[in-house]
Amino acid sequence: MALEPWEASILGVYDVATRPYTGGSRHWFDFVEHARDLEGDFLEFGVYRGRSLVGTAMLLQERGSDSIAVGFDTFAGFPSTSPFDLQERFEQLHEEGRISSDHFERVVKNRAHLSWLGRDSHPSASSTSGNFSNTSEHYVRSLLEYTGTDSQVELFAGEFAESVEEPANARRTVAGALIDCDLWGGYQVALDYVWPRLSPGGMIFLDEYYSLKFPGPRFAVDSFCEEHGIRPTLLEDEGSWERWAIFK
Ligand SMILES: C[S@@+](CC[C@H](N)C(=O)[O-])C[C@H]1O[C@@H](n2cnc3c(N)ncnc32)[C@H](O)[C@@H]1O
Repeated sequence: MALEPWEASILGVYDVATRPYTGGSRHWFDFVEHARDLEGDFLEFGVYRGRSLVGTAMLLQERGSDSIAVGFDTFAGFPSTSPFDLQERFEQLHEEGRISSDHFERVVKNRAHLSWLGRDSHPSASSTSGNFSNTSEHYVRSLLEYTGTDSQVELFAGEFAESVEEPANARRTVAGALIDCDLWGGYQVALDYVWPRLSPGGMIFLDEYYSLKFPGPRFAVDSFCEEHGIRPTLLEDEGSWERWAIFK
C-alpha cells in the first residue's frame, strides 16, 4: 500500500512519498530509487523495527522490481560488542588523525550531554533505543504483512556472521547495501560479504562512518578499505554531519 506521510509516521516506517527524501538515510533512498538498471538485491544490515527496510521494499514494489529487500538482524538487540566499540576509541581515532577535531569535539560534547541526562555512554546504552532489543522477528514480519511489502522482502534472523552463510545468501548478487548496525563486528561481516557480490555502480551506505556514539564502524571500514585499496566517498558534509558510502 502507498502510505501518506502521516501513515508512515504512525506505523514507524520511512516516508518514501515525500521528496526530497529527508533524514540521515536520504542518500540510501535516492540510490534505491535511481538504481533501476543495477542487477541484484538491496540489503540492510541492522533492521531493528523495520523502519527503513519497509521504505526500501515500497520503492522496489512501486516500480515492479524483481529485486528483493533483504534484512539481517538478531531481532533481539545488539550481539556482544568488541573493544573497538568502546567510547575511548574515539580518543585513538582523534590522536591518529582519522577524525577531525570538530568531529572529536562533538563526540566529547555528546558524552557530556548523555552524562547530564543520566545515560551511560557504553555502546549498548548510548542510543535512545538502548541496545535495540525492543523488537522481534514476529513484529517485523507482521509489519511487512500489514504494509503489503512481505512479498518484496526476505528476512534473516540471527547474527550476521551466521545468516550470511545461509544457502540463499551464498548465490546472491547485490545492487546496494545499507549498513546500519552501529558495531565493529557487524560492519566487518557485512563489508566482507557484500563487496565481492556488489554489481558495478553499486553502493554500500555506511550509516555510522561518521558517528558520535559508535567508533567501531570507522575502524572496520578503514581496515577494509586499506585491505582492498579503495576509499570511502563523502556524499555530503552538511556542516555538522558527514554522510559516507563505498561505491564499486
Ligand atoms: C540502529 S539499529 C537499525 C535501525 C534500522 N535500520 C531502522 O531502520 O530503524 C541497529 C541494529 O543492528 C543490529 N545488529 C548489530 N550488529 C548485529 C550483528 N552482528 N548481527 C545481527 N544484528 C546486528 C541490532 O540488533 C539493531 O537492531
